[in-house]
Amino acid sequence: VLDESGNAAPGQLQDSKIRGASDGAPTTHPALLAWVQQVAELTQPAAVYWVTGSDDENTVLTDELVEAGTLTRLNPETFPNSFAAFSDPKDVARVEEQTFICSEKKEDAGFTNNWMDPAQMRTKLDGLFAGSMRGRTMYVIPFVMGHLDAEDPKFGVEITDSAYVVASMRIMARIGTDVLRKMEELDNAFFVPALHSVGAPLAEGEADVAWPCNEEKWIVHFPEDRSIFSYGSGYGGNALLGKKCYALRIASVMARDEGWLAEHMLILKLTSPEKKDYYVSAAFPSACGKTNLALLDPTVEGWKVETLGDDITWLRFGHDGELRATNPEAGLFGVAPGTGWSTNPNAMRAIAKGNSIFTNVALTDDGGVWWEGMTDEVPAHLTDWLGNEWTPDSDTPAAHPNSRFCTPIDQIDMLAEEYHSPEGVPVSAILFGGRRKTTVPLVTQARDWTSGIFMGSTLSSETTAAAAGAVGVVRRDPMAMLPFMGYDAGDYLKHWITLSGKADQDKLPAIFLVNWFRRTADGGFAWPGFGENSRVLKWVIERLEGKADAVETPIGFVPTGDSIDLAGLDMTPADVEAAVHVDPAEWETELAGIDEWYARFGGSLPEELSAKLAEVKDRFAAA
Ligand code: GDP
Ligand code: PGA
Ligand code: MN
Repeated sequence: VLDESGNAAPGQLQDSKIRGASDGAPTTHPALLAWVQQVAELTQPAAVYWVTGSDDENTVLTDELVEAGTLTRLNPETFPNSFAAFSDPKDVARVEEQTFICSEKKEDAGFTNNWMDPAQMRTKLDGLFAGSMRGRTMYVIPFVMGHLDAEDPKFGVEITDSAYVVASMRIMARIGTDVLRKMEELDNAFFVPALHSVGAPLAEGEADVAWPCNEEKWIVHFPEDRSIFSYGSGYGGNALLGKKCYALRIASVMARDEGWLAEHMLILKLTSPEKKDYYVSAAFPSACGKTNLALLDPTVEGWKVETLGDDITWLRFGHDGELRATNPEAGLFGVAPGTGWSTNPNAMRAIAKGNSIFTNVALTDDGGVWWEGMTDEVPAHLTDWLGNEWTPDSDTPAAHPNSRFCTPIDQIDMLAEEYHSPEGVPVSAILFGGRRKTTVPLVTQARDWTSGIFMGSTLSSETTAAAAGAVGVVRRDPMAMLPFMGYDAGDYLKHWITLSGKADQDKLPAIFLVNWFRRTADGGFAWPGFGENSRVLKWVIERLEGKADAVETPIGFVPTGDSIDLAGLDMTPADVEAAVHVDPAEWETELAGIDEWYARFGGSLPEELSAKLAEVKDRFAAA
């Protein structure tokens, strides 16, 4: 049934499932074998399956998922090898209320994280996971975040009872036998154990549902022993544990200890008309425009954009003192609504190549997918994400606002070749951004590096559908990491300051604050956004080159009305001035909000940042 690499022949996965946890397991890695054995004893699965990552295996798994009703196969003419999944309506987003950082000491988790005593949490998890995989297959997925041939590859193994998770992890990360072999070669390398169960054991003969999950959900991280436990949800950010749980929460702790940064950032490459290359990374909260900016189709003459990453960036200071960025992921898990041929044609072209899994989108009558904003023309008839008939007269959206496409990154035509290089790229500029209707200008350049960290630390945004809870509430989201810091927020900001303090100061990137979401008095967007954001990127690069004009304000430098290239755009310099206006009355309220925010850090706020706040207040007072 299995070839020598442990691969199941096509159609024979069922037979290979008879393998026990260590019986004939395709590895000799002692810690891995022991952990798999221990989890199997606890969770009591019907079978254990070691994921190889092969194409044949994926075919078998997706066939099984189609049969089970979890996946709907899309029309192969228009969406080859692609599937739609529809979740339980109560399992559609990350659950921040149920996300925990269980450090030994409460103060190490900090005020931004939920915390529970680790011993108490372990007891709780043992209870939840006991027998939680009964009647299901337990899949073991070796994975690596970042390059397999990185200097210090970051391994993980996810154990899950969801084949949907296996198929999605295969898109989002490098997984399977190659990873396992590399772990063994590197003296049975350390891996982050990441245990996931949908929390829906099946009794003997009990029929399964299309999207098993549990009312009770727990997303738990033990930062000291670098382990992850996820229970009750099948949704991306909760269940694809290489992504937010590992590459941000656990990696941020590794980064603190090892002297680097794990950030919620995209990376893009810009080439100027003079053929000079620049790399820019940008941190925006979930559903605030990372994927769109990363895949931007520039509207400004002579400038080229390529992408390296759309969600997570690992930053390290290189041997020459420059800040270098890599993308640890292998796929896109993008917000579907608003992604369309007019706003994001690069994403649409990548999706159209197939090999994608869509979750909670609507289905067209010819076996395709649709979501709000995908095409200008709205189809006359759809099946909505809940399985109901839908027409343009329906008063609910056809796709869930947090519906997603999951697509391999190498299907992006504009993928920069540097994506494939483990050394990463040197970053020239960092953008911090959020979703603010008022107050925050379209773009502001920080006066200096520490002012930039101040901007990042006070970043704010209106909440979105990417997390369960109210939408549209302004909250502070430092460096867009609020839900993803694996340790104390003040210590996190301190780490930014001390780490960069040791770097070559002349090579530190310039920092900018952006806001694509400011509104005008009549309620419209003050800036057209999407591809037009290339005009802002052009200004950013021209600032680095000392070419673009700016006006000094108490919060930093904003563009003059005519320093943003408006050629071909129906806008005037006065519109730009309105979009970058710093209103003293709005900022009085804003600074009061920042006071409150900083007060919550208690003693852990770096002094450098309270000094910067005082400096900004002085500048407003003097203005
Ligand atoms: P991510 O979760 O940070 O990657 O955010 P996405 O790029 O997926 O975008 C989230 C939502 O914001 C989508 O509905 C987009 O259509 C919308 N969006 C992204 N960029 C812009 C922009 O420049 N202007 C406006 N108005 N909306 C945007
Ligand atoms: P995002 O991440 O919302 O930042 O795109 C995906 C998720 O965690 O749900
Ligand atoms: Mn995204």
